[in-house]
Amino acid sequence: MVESASLDATQGPFDAREPGEQQLFRTAAAQAGLVTGSGDWRALVERFDRHYPDLSRLFRSLYGSRPDVEEQLGGLVLEIARSWQDRPADLKQLDAGREGNSEWFQSNRMLGGVCYVDRYAADLEGVRARIPYFKELGLTYLHLMPLFLAPEPLSDGGYAVSSYREVNPKLGTMDQLRALAAELRANGISLVVDFIFNHTSNEHEWARRAAEGDSRYSDYYWIFPDRTMPDAFEQDVREIFPEDHPGSFVQLPDGRWIWATFHTFQWDLNYSNPEVFRAMAGEMLFLANLGVDILRMDAVAFIWKQLGTPCESLPEAHTLLRAFNAVCRIAAPALLFKSEAIVHPDEVALYIDPAECQLSYNPLQMALTWEALATRNVSLLAQALERRHNIAPGTSWVNYVRSHDDIGWTFADEDAAEFGINGFDHRRFLNSFYVNRFPGSFAHGVPFQDNPRTGDCRISGTTASLCGLEDGSAEAIRRVLLTHSVAFSTGGIPLLYLGDEVGQLNDYGYAQEDGHEADSRWVHRPQFPAEKYAKRLDPATPEGAVYAGLRRLAEVRAATPELAGTRLVPFTTNNPAVLGYQRPGHGTVVLALANFSDSPQVVSAETLSGFAAEALDLFAGEPVRIDEGLVLRPQDYAWLRVVPPS
Ligand code: GLC
Ligand code: GLC
Repeated sequence: MVESASLDATQGPFDAREPGEQQLFRTAAAQAGLVTGSGDWRALVERFDRHYPDLSRLFRSLYGSRPDVEEQLGGLVLEIARSWQDRPADLKQLDAGREGNSEWFQSNRMLGGVCYVDRYAADLEGVRARIPYFKELGLTYLHLMPLFLAPEPLSDGGYAVSSYREVNPKLGTMDQLRALAAELRANGISLVVDFIFNHTSNEHEWARRAAEGDSRYSDYYWIFPDRTMPDAFEQDVREIFPEDHPGSFVQLPDGRWIWATFHTFQWDLNYSNPEVFRAMAGEMLFLANLGVDILRMDAVAFIWKQLGTPCESLPEAHTLLRAFNAVCRIAAPALLFKSEAIVHPDEVALYIDPAECQLSYNPLQMALTWEALATRNVSLLAQALERRHNIAPGTSWVNYVRSHDDIGWTFADEDAAEFGINGFDHRRFLNSFYVNRFPGSFAHGVPFQDNPRTGDCRISGTTASLCGLEDGSAEAIRRVLLTHSVAFSTGGIPLLYLGDEVGQLNDYGYAQEDGHEADSRWVHRPQFPAEKYAKRLDPATPEGAVYAGLRRLAEVRAATPELAGTRLVPFTTNNPAVLGYQRPGHGTVVLALANFSDSPQVVSAETLSGFAAEALDLFAGEPVRIDEGLVLRPQDYAWLRVVPPS
């Protein structure tokens, strides 16, 4: 009986596979305990059939010359089958609904928030207790900063993971995390966690064994007996955390040198070893089966190293991501990847693809929003929107005003040169402006990784402090809202750093915190600002004014279908202080305008003459005449539903 059913089930596309692949699948499925011919078995066969050819091709292109390529590929297929067998039924249902459907994450109702579990809510139970607030705010996406086991006190905010199978005991348990994921989902909120796959902590079991000299695990990392290879690599590799250690290598107690791009305790994994890929794919699928919806793919640019290159954004980094993506398409299709590539905009774009990372941070828009706020000139930001915003169908930006990290001025020097701007000098100006060393600056940022040798520096600070809300002024409040109005309307998921919606300021207390004192990014990672949240419903306070403004942005965005997706049509305002862009809908267009200057600005009647005389002001909910031009108050913005004349 079972035998004939299974034969029937294999009729169809699966039979098109080569006998070797069929055998590989059958063996893995049987070992994983899948019942041949069952619904689960068929679902897996079907996806295997569709996506395994890609996976196999990608894997072989990376590892074809390795003697263990077949063994590792076999191990990977077994990992996939086991993961599918273990995947909870509700997640399998989610898989079916999300497969091939990008509308859910491109919706204009999407709104993200990010927080540290311990700082924002003490622990996972505390996060759960804040779900009613998340709903008040309208969140549909919650990024919890790294929450797995990590060294103490130094863990780079959890970005040094010692085990993906154990929640940091201070924050809770695996069962609590699983329950939280389910409860968030029941409340319409997707859970986002980091997949820190470029490195592990030095306390990870693999790292311990490598440090002890175990040769199998030494091959999980980049370890060299002396300085010959490190010196050769460092010819071309940039320093990421020069305040932590010079170069990219640190010395082990036994004298060997190990690759550590970030901190001394974050050891880069060696993806030229296929066993590392297989092992990390296993960790990734484990996270998927916990009920995580989106993985933030940390530090994607660094995952492949090749002597004689900068070891950033190499072609193989993309192949690796695509291979991980193909694994998910078979074993956990509901899962999305978000790329964290804070690099040159040409390179950022290369990670964005339905077959690679469906989502990406938008670091260029973020940095240039601050650039425009400092210069009161929108040229660079408008240029970026015009030429670098539109991305492939089935993908989306994640638009943020600031993150848990520093602000780096990652615009393209060649773009700036078109306006006669020298990139190096302009970054120097922006750094001095945002650390309040430039006359007339409103900002209260602090330097991060100031590198006197290269002149490189980045900026730390909360949104409110970078806008100068220390003085409680109306201008500062308007700057906070102006920057968010851009993130909420250009197209993509807006992502709030939680606490910014009530205007949280810099927290200089980090200098007294164990393990944080040397990293200025902690200045913008304050504890839950309870007293500010308490004032959020009082619009007479700065907290209340910021909160009301942000709530309104979220509400109007959610009610404006033109703001779904990412497609943007440029709009020239003919005023260097006013940003403009159009978001086309079905037969209607939303025109967004933002005045980055400190004085009222006009968008002329002639500039607006391509539209019908009457538009709808989406914030006021009232018609407005635009045939005599528009005046925008200082730091003000408008979203207008305009009608192209018939
Ligand atoms: C990412 C994180 C950052 C961390 C680094 C190393 O860039 O955003 O906080 O320091 O990766 O994991
Ligand atoms: C990121 C970036 C780097 C950034 C750091 C975190 O991956 O490449 O510029 O500053 O890690 O702060």
